[in-house]
Order: sequence, then structure tokens, then C-alpha cells
Amino acid sequence: STDTIEGLKRQPEIIRAAKLLREGGLVAFPTETVYGLGADATSQAAVAQIFEAKGRPSDNPLIVHLGSPEQLAKWVEGVPSVAKICMKHFCPGPLTLVLPHNGQIADNVTAGLDTVAVRFPSHPVAMALLQVADIPVAAPSANRSGKPSPTQAQHVWHDLSGRFHVLLDGGNAGVGIESTVLDITGDVPMLLRPGGITLEQLRDVLGDVEVDPNLHSEKSKPRSPGMKYRHYAPSGEMFLVHGEPLKVVGRVNRMIKEDVRQGKKVGVLTTEERKHYFKQANHVIACGSRSDPESVARGLYDALRTFDQEKIDVIYAETFPECGIYTSVMNRMRKAAEGRMIRV
Ligand code: TXA
Ligand code: MG
Repeated sequence: STDTIEGLKRQPEIIRAAKLLREGGLVAFPTETVYGLGADATSQAAVAQIFEAKGRPSDNPLIVHLGSPEQLAKWVEGVPSVAKICMKHFCPGPLTLVLPHNGQIADNVTAGLDTVAVRFPSHPVAMALLQVADIPVAAPSANRSGKPSPTQAQHVWHDLSGRFHVLLDGGNAGVGIESTVLDITGDVPMLLRPGGITLEQLRDVLGDVEVDPNLHSEKSKPRSPGMKYRHYAPSGEMFLVHGEPLKVVGRVNRMIKEDVRQGKKVGVLTTEERKHYFKQANHVIACGSRSDPESVARGLYDALRTFDQEKIDVIYAETFPECGIYTSVMNRMRKAAEGRMIRV
């Protein structure tokens, strides 16, 4: 609420972090999707530290975070009506808009493209920080490049300790997967990355929305440069196991038995409804409840990180129906599994 944000804006931690941002520092902060690693988006030097800290390829542009919708006009060529409609319905919230920029954002934020990705996070700590700093803040997810995005402050600490100036702890990220990236430079809006706002929600408000055809193919070049990199991958080899529930359970248990016999440590990524079926695995994680898709999104990245901590060699994961937020969950799970899918 407005009261909460006004209260946060007076907190010394927030004031100090905002000052650090203005002075060119690196601030890790919570958003409603995942934690971000922020720097002044108008400063090439400040932004360069982000790529350095994350080990991120420089051809992968960053999202600019703003504290209020009125600020958008300062950084883009113009604010089209589709942007206004999106902002009215979804901002602040987990939606990122891609628009032509006006040249005022540092070149390394946009990777030299003529467009910029902008979003208005709804997490009260992020909103307070952005409003106090009063500058556009470039922020990718605050993980080492290739690792699952951080949904808790301790994940940021694990990946990046010593590589930023401050970390604001805002508890668990509520959505748990990144924002939806929507390109609104063309005649028809195009979904570049599925995320916290679903395609169904976008179509309800905007009518026609296309989906980047490259999202589903491994070979061609996606229009959202970040989608081409190995991502979200746990250290163990992950397999999605797709099919009728009882067949999935039978097949996974046979594979577990064989893997354990070979001395491998086996993990199962499942849900509350099914976790009791996999007694022989070394580590079973219910990352949420199947009947509550939001809970699965919220628990996914922490589960992937836990398998790493437990030094799991092979992970079997159940799949989800491709609609609503499960579309975004499945996008991340396919990446984590690097496309490995067993159909039963
Ligand atoms: O939820 C989120 O969006 C989080 C939080 C921290 O806000 N941020 C995040 O940033 O996920 P990052 O850097 O991990 O992902 C940014 C995505 C990448 O896929 C990148 O390629 C795409 O946005 N992107 C950035 N600028 C773009 C542009 N001008 N055109 C197309 N895609 C762009
Ligand atoms: Mg990321």
C-alpha cells in the first residue's frame, strides 16, 4: 500500500541503498518476481559492474526498472497507447515492455539495440528504493549467469557475495519466476519471454498477442537475446518426465532404482500431491501444489538450488499443462532440463 511504501522511503537502509545507486554502486534488491542486481541505467561504468559481477555476456541487454509510470516518457521515443493500456492493467507488476529508446539510457544496458526493456516492479521495497533513488535502475536477476534466479536474499548471497555493495532483504519473492517480456514496437504485441503475467491475461486486455516463434525452437535466434543462453540449469542432469500420472510414477521409480544401483544421487522434482510416490529417491522436493500453479512458480528456483546443494546427479521432474502461469514454469523447466524430455 502507499502507506507501506511511504514508510519504507524513510528507512535508513533504503535511503542508504538509494544513495549508493546514485553514486554508481551495485545494489541487490527484492522484486515481486526475483531478486535484482541494480545499477544506475544512465551510467555506462555503473552498469559495467553488473556484467562483471554476474559473469554475463555483454550482448544480453538489461531491464530498466522505474519507480512510477510517469517516468517512462523520459527514456523512450514516445508512449504508444498500447503501453498506456499495459501500464493501466499490469503495472506495477511482473510485466516488462520493450519500446524504442530515446538515447538517454547507457549503451551497455540495451546492448546497442534501438529498443529498451522497461518494467515497474510492485514489491514495496523495490518501489521505495526506485522512488527515493529517482533514477532508472538497470537490473538483471541477481544470480551468477546460468544459475536459477534468486527468490530469497540467501540465494543472492550464495551467488554474489563480495560482488555488490548492499543487499536489501525483502523475504521470499512472491511470484518466483521472472517478468513477462512483451515487445510493443510492432503492430501486434509480441511475447518474447513468458513470465509472471500470462499470455491469457495479456490477450484479455490487448486482444491479439503474438508469441515469438523462436521461443520454442532450439536453433533459431530468439528476439529476446537472453533466451538463447543456457539458463536456470542445476548442476545435475535434469529430465522432464511427461505422460499419464501412473505411468510417470512407474517409469521414474524404475529409473531411480537403476540410477541408485549405479551409485548416482537421485532427486525428484514433484508436487505435494505426488511426493509420496518416490520413496527410493535420495531427495524429493515438492515445489508446490499441482492445484495451485502460483505455488509451483514460487518454489521452482529454490528447489533447483537445493538439488545443487545436495549434490544430486540426476533429477526427474514431472510436467505441467501448458496454460496460465504453468506455461512460464514449463519454459523455465525445459531450459533447466536443456530440452531433455522422456515421454511415457
Ligand atoms: O523479473 C524480472 O524481469 C527480473 C527482475 C530482477 O526484474 N529481471 C530479469 O532480468 O529477469 P534478466 O536480465 O535476467 O532478463 C532480461 C530479459 C532477457 O531475456 C533480455 O534478453 C531481455 O529481457 N531484454 C532486455 N532488453 C531487451 C530488448 N531491448 N529487447 C528484447 N529483449 C530484451
Ligand atoms: Mg536472469
